[in-house]
Amino acid sequence: MSETLNIRAAEFVKSAVRPQHYPPEELPEVAFAGRSNVGKSSLINCLVQRKKLVRVSQTPGLTQTLNFFLINGSFHLVDLPGYGYAKVPVSVQSQWGTMVESYLTTRRTLRGMVHIMDVRHPPTPDDLQLWHWIRDRGIPVVPVLTKADKISTNKRASHRVQAAASLSIDPAEIVMFSSTTRMGREELLARLQEWLAGP
Ligand code: GTP
Ligand code: MG
Repeated sequence: MSETLNIRAAEFVKSAVRPQHYPPEELPEVAFAGRSNVGKSSLINCLVQRKKLVRVSQTPGLTQTLNFFLINGSFHLVDLPGYGYAKVPVSVQSQWGTMVESYLTTRRTLRGMVHIMDVRHPPTPDDLQLWHWIRDRGIPVVPVLTKADKISTNKRASHRVQAAASLSIDPAEIVMFSSTTRMGREELLARLQEWLAGP
């Protein structure tokens, strides 16, 4: 077993929409995806132990770009814009598809994706669509159920089992997470470490 990833430095690199504006493909990368307002930016802030590295939104659906962060000078975390926010116009939703799909299919340095879902609700049709899409392409993915602080321990256990059934995976694959209490932080860092340490 490798040691848990120790995050010493984190900085914003850039926002990008089109592949020609992404940073060069020089460092391994992990992307974070999930529904709008699910807690992606909070989760990244929690991982890197910085309150405001990534802007946490009061208004969901505002992040419409890919945001690249450099960690320890050695890899990137990428905050993907959230999907599934009903108030976003259909034209913007289809831009989301194009932007995220071209990133996930073309990025040669992508080591894996963290798929963030809300522990309080079963995976939505949008969640399942992205989940199957990413699995079909053989991209490594860790499913995370976040906002775990919002439900009881008993419910966490039963929601884990239900989500696993819906995603067709073993319940142990799921990381239970809370950006508020930092539950799951070490476990998720260990998973990322495996990807980043790989060849
Ligand atoms: P978009 O960028 O708009 O797609 O949202 P996001 O997925 O980045 O969510 P964000 O991190 O901005 O969080 C949305 C709201 O949920 C904020 O009010 C956060 O404070 C809250 N939140 C996020 N994670 C947690 C958590 O683990 N526990 C609790 N209690 N609240 C959380
Ligand atoms: Mg965000």
